[in-house]
Amino acid sequence: MSHLIAGNWKMNGTPASAEALAAELIARVRNAKAPPPGVVLCPPAPLIPAVLAVTKGTPVAVGGQDCHAKEKGAHTGDVSPVLLAELGCRFVIVGHSERRADHGETDASVKAKAEAALKAGLTPIICVGETEGERERGETARVIARQVEGSIPQASTAANTVIAYEPVWAIGTGKTATTADIAAVHAQIADLFGAGHGGASGLKILYGGSVKAANAKEILATANVRGALVGGASLDADEFWKIIESCPR
Ligand code: 13P
Repeated sequence: MSHLIAGNWKMNGTPASAEALAAELIARVRNAKAPPPGVVLCPPAPLIPAVLAVTKGTPVAVGGQDCHAKEKGAHTGDVSPVLLAELGCRFVIVGHSERRADHGETDASVKAKAEAALKAGLTPIICVGETEGERERGETARVIARQVEGSIPQASTAANTVIAYEPVWAIGTGKTATTADIAAVHAQIADLFGAGHGGASGLKILYGGSVKAANAKEILATANVRGALVGGASLDADEFWKIIESCPR
């Protein structure tokens, strides 16, 4: 499977709606004519068991939206990567720009979380991306280099880590980067990762930011794009399935 489509449900859903959404998606995966790409659903933490109950034994994987850098302890409200793995999660998003902005997460704290995720046997989906101001000031490459170098642990390899490029200004705004801009940043990430982690061959670099059924085909066919991290459009089974079906085969 060459592409990975991840649905980040963010702070949305109830047990009933989560189960229904996961079940609708699994029905589509089961009825698919061609084998679908990798699919991972990242529900809010309290809904993870409900989604795992529905996805068990299917090719659809489940991930957390964040984890703590420690395995356990006095960290009120946080989620242990070991617990996520024990529940049955295979992935965890770390360093999403909403967490960097809302919770003051830094490259160093994101790196510690990714390290802990790897240690727990999870595949971290490490997010990077520039703000609108940074892009306007021509700082995109510098910001991406700083985030890649600062947020990706030494233990990361192309096989155990996923990177998501999510320009902050494209998240939830309906704006997407041009395919030329996406290709340039993804090539930079592949180069930087390859130099520090024994090569980038097979590394999944996802694009995220207003990915919809209408633009997925073009984005997913862009050089060095090996999947998508989808927010709003992942909450609608039809729309998300169309994105999954837009992966080049
Ligand atoms: P949207 O697809 O809603 O723009 O969100 C993207 C995102 O932040 C996924 O992590």
